[in-house]
Amino acid sequence: MSQEDATLEARLAEQEAFEPPESFVEQANVTDPGIYDEFEENWPECWERAADLLSWDESYDTVLDDGNEPFYEWFTGGELNASYNCLDRHVEDGAADREAIKWEGELGETRSYTYGELLEEVETFAATLRGLGVEEDDVVTLYLPMIPELPIAMLACARLGAPHSVVFAGFSADALATRMNSADSEYLVTCDGYYRRGDALDHLSKTNEGLEGVDHEVSDVVVVDRLGDDLDHSLADNQRDYDELVAEYDGESVEPVSRDAEDMLFLMYTSGTTGQPKGVKHTTGGYLAYTAWTSRAVLDLEPEDTYWCSADIGWITGHSYIVYGPLALGTTSVMYEGTPDYPDKDRLWEIVEREGVDVFYTAPTAIRAFMKWGSDYPEQHDLSSLRLLGTVGEPINPRAWKWYYKHIGDEECPIVDTWWQTETGGMMITTLPGVNTMKPGSAGPPLPGVDARVVDAQGEEVDAGQAGYVTVNKPWPGMLRTLYNNDERFLSEYWQEYSDEDADEWVYFPEDGAKIDDDGYITILGRVDDVINVSGHRLGTMEIESAVVGVDGIAEAAVVGGDHEVKGEAVYVYAIPEDDYEGDAELEERAMDAVLDSIGPIAKPEDVVFTPELPKTRSGKIMRRLLEDIASGNELGNTSTLRNPEVVDDIAAQVETD
Ligand code: WT7
Repeated sequence: MSQEDATLEARLAEQEAFEPPESFVEQANVTDPGIYDEFEENWPECWERAADLLSWDESYDTVLDDGNEPFYEWFTGGELNASYNCLDRHVEDGAADREAIKWEGELGETRSYTYGELLEEVETFAATLRGLGVEEDDVVTLYLPMIPELPIAMLACARLGAPHSVVFAGFSADALATRMNSADSEYLVTCDGYYRRGDALDHLSKTNEGLEGVDHEVSDVVVVDRLGDDLDHSLADNQRDYDELVAEYDGESVEPVSRDAEDMLFLMYTSGTTGQPKGVKHTTGGYLAYTAWTSRAVLDLEPEDTYWCSADIGWITGHSYIVYGPLALGTTSVMYEGTPDYPDKDRLWEIVEREGVDVFYTAPTAIRAFMKWGSDYPEQHDLSSLRLLGTVGEPINPRAWKWYYKHIGDEECPIVDTWWQTETGGMMITTLPGVNTMKPGSAGPPLPGVDARVVDAQGEEVDAGQAGYVTVNKPWPGMLRTLYNNDERFLSEYWQEYSDEDADEWVYFPEDGAKIDDDGYITILGRVDDVINVSGHRLGTMEIESAVVGVDGIAEAAVVGGDHEVKGEAVYVYAIPEDDYEGDAELEERAMDAVLDSIGPIAKPEDVVFTPELPKTRSGKIMRRLLEDIASGNELGNTSTLRNPEVVDDIAAQVETD
């Protein structure tokens, strides 16, 4: 490092606040700090600003209907179609030739769709689904990786008013079956396979295995041929090749179905405290208005932009900020199939340079990996097209923030650290890039119109500097409406903790810990439930635990998250072998396999530690905090309240030698 570089690094390391660059502010969509007061004084009507970004078939009568709290309804009486809003209206406005999706496969092939072309593809596939019998309100499961057919299928479903349920392609066969069963979904779109680090992965065999676990009849399965000759499959009787099938409907037009604002747009399953994944229900009007609004205000998107969110569409980030938000605004959205280090570690920067990406949105785990690989990789490319950077999914440490700021943004791009959840539909806590000072490590203030607070166990706001819990004390348009077929769990998971039913005060509890500073900036500390965040992916420890205790030879198990340099958190399993079993390599492998089978490779344990006992309190509860400390290599606190303090040293010693 040169002397000059070293001085720069030192300055950056100490700097705690960053102003948005003048060049950014000059062109930003939102620059008036008065927006916070405007929204507050005019709440909930302020949200009309979001609804105004959409084209309505029928205008709404009421912005917020809170007659049956906390089952809030937004823009009631309004009617619209999400696919019309993401496609037709841009074509009608003369943007048929603007690129909508620019896709790049891992092997380097590209496919690009203008708004006009995407509309045609979507209509054809909507006609196809209708031909297969899909009707309004039927849930269609999409088990697809990052290929263009995924957004095409989502928008085709939206066009018909058939809610989609996208299952992340990396999830296991079991996970697919659980989700199809829970949603009673009779239709499935999948593919033969896809590429990962150059290898062809077999997805259809996994799909077929999953279908064996589906407890109801599945009428039709559409199979996209992604791999061509790289993998040969024979299709079962109810399985149809995507290309052959759509050829039958080529050129057919399908009128977008007018949906009630509160009609379901999609379901997205996510992990919670207990074993069963939760089916988060999002509706058409509020969700689309909210994602369009936040894409405009926070990601600063304009129709002319080339924008790239590197998430997978199989998670909420991809739904909201690859597909619905950007396309509702008529922006060009980049989509990449593969991993960031294939064929080399500069793959993403090569894409940014070639496509002239203006706005880039990724996860802290990716930034930590880039950092580890070194700044030589981005330096090989001209990244000067970038004007704004974003992160999402987990807390970002100031060092990673600053690396991103310097080496990717060249100190000329603001960074938005956006806190939100599957349940919130869109961003909730973040700076507005053209308005606020940035503080690395802190997401920022709640967005205008969002009443997020940091409170203590009694729900009282904590003082600056104190740790507490995030709550959201007013509803917002992008919020989940309920858990699919499970209003009771919706109430108990999110509203029970802090609401005062008698006083008719309803408070949403996201289950995150946080701190707040004197300027009202919120620093998220992480989940306070049994959910861990591995590489920005939310995993329920109970789900993993139940997979492990299902293994023959394992009597009891505890699963916790431990700190990990790149992944943020990693999965650690502590298990007690049954009497006649050895905690040996074979048992470890079976435990690992059980996790892969029930969830998928993202949940693969970092380590499985066998122990004759788990540390327990006198009342018999497993001391997870202690196991987390052991996994993270932290100093171990007081163990005297344990019934069996001696096991702690045994386990810790084992972890060190592993
Ligand atoms: C959990 C939600 C939001 C889309 C991706 C994840 C954590 C999310 C941040 C952030 C700190 C964050 C929270 C949250 N999280 N964004 N900017 N800073 N933590 O969605 O799978 O529903 O997970 O991710 O813990 O509760 P999700």
